[in-house]
Amino acid sequence: MAESMAGLKRSHRCAEVSEANIGQDVTVMGWVQKSRNKGGIIFVDLRDRSGILQIIFEESDCGAESFEKAEKLRSEFVIAVCGRVETRSGAANPNLKTGTIEVRAKSLRILAESETPPFPIEENSKTKEELRLKYRYLDLRRPDIQRNIMTRSQVAILVRKFLAEEGFLEIETPTLIKSTPEGARDYLVPSRVHPGSFYALPQSPQLFKQLLMCSGYDRYFQLARCYRDEDLRADRQPEFTQIDMELSFVDVDDVLDVNERLLKELFGQICGVELSLPLPRITWKEAMDRFGSDKPDMRFGMELTDVSQAVADCDFVVFKSALENGGTVRGLKAEGQAGMPRKKIDALVEFAKGYGAKGLAYLAIHQDGTYKSSFAKFMTEEQLTRLVEAMDGKPGDLLLFAADKTPVVWNVLGALRLELAKQLNLIPENTWKFVWVTEFPLLEYSEEENRYVAMHHPFTMPMEEDLPLLDTDPGAVRAKAYDIVLNGTELGGGSVRIHQADIQEKMFRVLGFSQEQAHEQFGFLLEAFKYGVPPHAGLAYGLDRVVMWMVGADSIRDVIAFPKVKDASCLMSEAPSTVDPRQLEELGIAIVAENAEENTAENTAENTAE
Ligand code: AMO
Ligand code: AMP
Repeated sequence: MAESMAGLKRSHRCAEVSEANIGQDVTVMGWVQKSRNKGGIIFVDLRDRSGILQIIFEESDCGAESFEKAEKLRSEFVIAVCGRVETRSGAANPNLKTGTIEVRAKSLRILAESETPPFPIEENSKTKEELRLKYRYLDLRRPDIQRNIMTRSQVAILVRKFLAEEGFLEIETPTLIKSTPEGARDYLVPSRVHPGSFYALPQSPQLFKQLLMCSGYDRYFQLARCYRDEDLRADRQPEFTQIDMELSFVDVDDVLDVNERLLKELFGQICGVELSLPLPRITWKEAMDRFGSDKPDMRFGMELTDVSQAVADCDFVVFKSALENGGTVRGLKAEGQAGMPRKKIDALVEFAKGYGAKGLAYLAIHQDGTYKSSFAKFMTEEQLTRLVEAMDGKPGDLLLFAADKTPVVWNVLGALRLELAKQLNLIPENTWKFVWVTEFPLLEYSEEENRYVAMHHPFTMPMEEDLPLLDTDPGAVRAKAYDIVLNGTELGGGSVRIHQADIQEKMFRVLGFSQEQAHEQFGFLLEAFKYGVPPHAGLAYGLDRVVMWMVGADSIRDVIAFPKVKDASCLMSEAPSTVDPRQLEELGIAIVAENAEENTAENTAENTAE
């Protein structure tokens, strides 16, 4: 039987009651975490989003009717309790904020009963994530998830406050927009009024925020929902939230300055981390050369070393042919790992192959100065000494080398560096290494499409000194683009935009767009730019990723109230779903149902979390 709460008013959340309230009457409401009947005395742990409070029921205090009700209490019943705050009668519980007190109940109402939940509502749940996501509304009751969601709210509020004080305006942009094929795959929404036409859900508010700059709003921000139909990973969702901003009359330094102050505020307030500003900056090229990654994890060293020079004259065919083909030879030094068993080294070779390496050459330096190596026999003593010196190798070290085209070597050694650091426990905990990565290449060559594609997006401004290269060597042009990286994750990125029509036209030309194609897709932006466009630049963070780091979550799903799983479905609501044929008819859409059933079966088997 569910009672009403008429005449009652909650006075405190559970864990807001403290020793300061001893002797006072309080009214608390929440869910029964646990109820223990000790015969004559009933102890109830009452839970709400603030935490847990112990309630003690004795018939002499609460009367027969309430006591009888208390005897019926089970997990997840929703109750209201009026009672007096006392010092805990039993031993204090140091694990609870309210561990030294309890509430001696004077009355009890059962506001709602509950069936036995399909899994216990508890911290650090051992329940399979699939089941938890099916009953996400119950999973969301668990204290660890509640803390994440509350932190997320706090971040959103702090962001709004900080940016408002910096003169930013919060402006919403549409989520039914025109599809543009650059970037990830769009989610499409059919139009009923225009049969055969589709809206796209925005991958980001990019074009609209640039238009807002054209319109004079000068500093814009938005906590924007973005949609990308791409393969999901542990830190990707098909819909996610950006802290998105754009500023007029600024250059790179202005954007970085306001953003590092924002980061300092957020990480200071929420994590108690004191960031010292300015944050370090490295260029993309330096990041790749030193760490083999455009999102370098700077919590540990073990940087890459280019040994191409040192091995230039050797006869080891692997090194030689890589260099002859315009490639490079680079190495990693695993200090003190010369004794690594052969099996483990072989596993590293396999790991490297997984990242596109043809192999991985190794050289272990024994304590007596002799070597064990997969290639020493192809080199003279002098060549080996030169190589070891180039690597600053010491007795006891293990040296690992990759030889190939430069991007392959970066990729392989970048991944190997992270893997070794994990295996060797080189990554310190509770360390926050922020770094700006700047001067990204403007373009990257897509073998698939046989043309250059924009690395960031087609509106990103080239560095002024590289502008002449747009005609002669587009691949070498650097962009005024920047990413903010924390501990090896890209939290956000942005760029200065092109605001000059001639540069934009050139950019489209390099990307292989005809004038017509450019106008067909971005006509409204190009038109707008004819009417006085200020120089502008912007940046967007993945809010979900920021919160993940703040709370130390392994999965992006742990910081999103209602996330989707790997196959982009929602296990709770079962979206996406088929729709009524009449809906399709109205939209003028027919389904080609080839293998539809097969697909569904596959997806269900695969939809477990990554
Ligand atoms: P970008 O595409 O780099 O830039 O996205 C900005 C940030 O959004 C986050 N992010 C994601 N988070 C969760 N799931 C995803 N699928 C996902 N994809 C991206 C990342 C990323 O750093 N309009 C530009 C920004 C600009 O130039 O101002 C943009 O969207 O943390
Ligand atoms: P192989 O001559 O193919 O047996 O290779 C000799 C050694 O060089 C082995 O340890 C291979 O793993 C290694 N190796 C092969 N290809 C490469 C490469 N591209 N870069 C670095 N090492 C390689």
